[in-house]
Amino acid sequence: MHLPVLVQETIQALAIRADGTYVDGTFGRGGHSRAILERLGPLGRLIALDRDPQAEQAARAIADRRLRFFRKKFSGLAEALTESGVQLADGMLFDLGVSSPQLEEAARGFSFRLDGPLDMRMDPTSGVSAAQWLSQAKEEEIREVIRGYGEERFAKQIAAAIVASRVREPILGTRQLAGLVGEAVRTREPGQDPATRTFQALRIHVNRELEEVSLMLPQAVQRLAFGGRLAVISFHSLEDRIVKRFLQHAARPDVPRHLPLRASEMPQPTLRILGRAVKASAEEIKSNPRARSAILRVAERTAAPYVPNLRIEPDARWRN
Ligand SMILES: C[S@@+](CC[C@H](N)C(=O)[O-])C[C@H]1O[C@@H](n2cnc3c(N)ncnc32)[C@H](O)[C@@H]1O
Repeated sequence: MHLPVLVQETIQALAIRADGTYVDGTFGRGGHSRAILERLGPLGRLIALDRDPQAEQAARAIADRRLRFFRKKFSGLAEALTESGVQLADGMLFDLGVSSPQLEEAARGFSFRLDGPLDMRMDPTSGVSAAQWLSQAKEEEIREVIRGYGEERFAKQIAAAIVASRVREPILGTRQLAGLVGEAVRTREPGQDPATRTFQALRIHVNRELEEVSLMLPQAVQRLAFGGRLAVISFHSLEDRIVKRFLQHAARPDVPRHLPLRASEMPQPTLRILGRAVKASAEEIKSNPRARSAILRVAERTAAPYVPNLRIEPDARWRN
């Protein structure tokens, strides 16, 4: 079960046209996709992506000729559109992060509460699991990932504890890691498990989540039709910062100071930001606590051609 967040707000933001072509870049269990399909007429189309094989199963179970699903990372957005014969889409949604089934199934290894293999890959068929990465990463790398992606004050102590422990026995389980982290973290944040930040950091790293967002956003702008809407829901400050900065730069591009440019050669805004960031209502948070940290940002494509902006290209500091 996955309860989609901010559904009404997102659908309203997308201003869906019955005969338009839309993208759901994070299908999950299809909550948002279903809401989009409900508003599409017979000529409308929905292109959905997700890297998770279980999301693919859920999408294949929807018998609707207007839906085309790709099991792909959303950094492959442009490729999926081209393969679908779509040059420009009328709206795109990205509901970032992990789904409830990913978090709540012990075997996926995302949860520090449930004992399972320390995997954490959204696509367990490719890449390196959290356990594999922790078994061979250098202590400094582990520290930087936990500090950078978890904003964890005790990153140094946690990394040292991991490295000291892995020589005795491999770290293969979620509860095993949570226990280690619990011992290394000296002061606890009220209401938060001491492993929360470390697990968030490893998940972001293993799935290259921030890099994915940075690679997807320019493609979304390039492949949105004039007047098309981009809606992005973030769940933590690191991804929201990337989205916010990207939208701001696209809406107010830097003007090169020392180049003799004519007015017609000045970089033009490719996006217009619509409204302020939207958060879930108290009522929604009551019925779906995951909505607590959701932030929806919406922008509309202008008619200006897209020119890559080097300042907002991906941050690829930590590759695995
Ligand atoms: C918060 S859930 C989306 C839930 C969905 N909106 C729904 O209503 O069911 C995020 C989903 O995005 C997928 N995902 C996250 N990052 C991805 C990426 N870079 N490429 C493709 N899918 C990704 C995850 O596998 C997960 O299924």
